[in-house]
Amino acid sequence: GVVIVVPPVSNDTGIKMIPDNAHPFQAPGPNDQRGPCPGLNTLANHGYLPRNGIASFEQIITAVREGFNMEHDLAGALAGFAMLARGNAFIDLVSIGGESPLVPVLPGAIDGPNPPGGISKHGRFEGDVSMTRQDAAIGDNVHFQDSLYDELLLYTGRFGDDSPVTGNGSIVTTKVMQEFKFARFVEDQVKDPVLQYHVGRFTLSYGEAAFVLNFFANGTDGTLSTPVMGSFFRNQTFPDDWYRRSSPGDINLIGEGVDQILSAHPIAPGANDANGNYVLDAPLNTCSAVYFNLAVQNLPASYSKATGILKQNVNTLIQAIAKPFGCPAVFPTGPS
Ligand code: HEM
Ligand code: MG
Repeated sequence: GVVIVVPPVSNDTGIKMIPDNAHPFQAPGPNDQRGPCPGLNTLANHGYLPRNGIASFEQIITAVREGFNMEHDLAGALAGFAMLARGNAFIDLVSIGGESPLVPVLPGAIDGPNPPGGISKHGRFEGDVSMTRQDAAIGDNVHFQDSLYDELLLYTGRFGDDSPVTGNGSIVTTKVMQEFKFARFVEDQVKDPVLQYHVGRFTLSYGEAAFVLNFFANGTDGTLSTPVMGSFFRNQTFPDDWYRRSSPGDINLIGEGVDQILSAHPIAPGANDANGNYVLDAPLNTCSAVYFNLAVQNLPASYSKATGILKQNVNTLIQAIAKPFGCPAVFPTGPS
């Protein structure tokens, strides 16, 4: 086993041009893992993450700061959740794509995330109503889908701002995400008979729209043009003359983004029933419903059987997930 140690907070958090000379784009090889996250895919294509797509908790936190200026505790919660949901916390490795022989099953009686699956595996982290990937029950939930991206471009043309450089209706704004995210929900509510949009996935889904606005935008002026967005989504490469954001993007920034995007069409968490009706969830009365749904209800209770290094790592990761929510760490109670 490998003992997981939360990296210290770095003070390298200013604006800078990305990539540097040490991190050129290189297309992934046939055995390299890539998956549903355009941010992590891009980092791996430039070697900010291991190019094989198999990464440790520490490597993910460092890479998302270096490449995108994602704040330390938000990164820790996402990386910790990915590791416990779909990785091997004993050897501190998770695939940013699918199943890999480099990430074997957990030792002992831990039947939770076995096989680990990688973050492409549906449920727990990967979920419904993504922007550029289909719901798992409808189609390809892992790879970039042209038809969905075309829809995002259509909404940008209709609701986006104008730019003297890239043209009219080519700047992606909160307004674009307000209309596009609502349209995606309406589509999947009709098309996906097993749509699951509980509070954890619901909030991550809106959070990922806020990631697009806040982490893909050029740090020079904070605007996001369609060519820049296309570089990340379609080509999974950093655009030319691109700067990461000028201050760390943390959970509060993303939370405000989620609230703004939702405010135009305020839908709520729920799931489709057997008749295709969207049934709202009862509110969870906890410190944070998002934290509780993701990290307590959706992570396997079998982690309680862990001993030794695995037990130590599980505790470290559970605390990393709880931290930016300001909630006490609670042990998982979910199914295998
Ligand atoms: C989606 C993991 C960081 C941007 C996803 C998904 C996973 C994931 C599992 C799929 C969810 C779904 O849509 O079903 C992670 C982890 C991170 C991380 C573990 C570690 C910190 C980032 C960063 C960015 C980013 C830094 C932006 C720079 C996105 C976007 C999507 C997404 C835009 C939605 C894609 C779509 O809906 O088409 N991420 N991510 N992520 N991620 Fe990440
Ligand atoms: Mg998805």
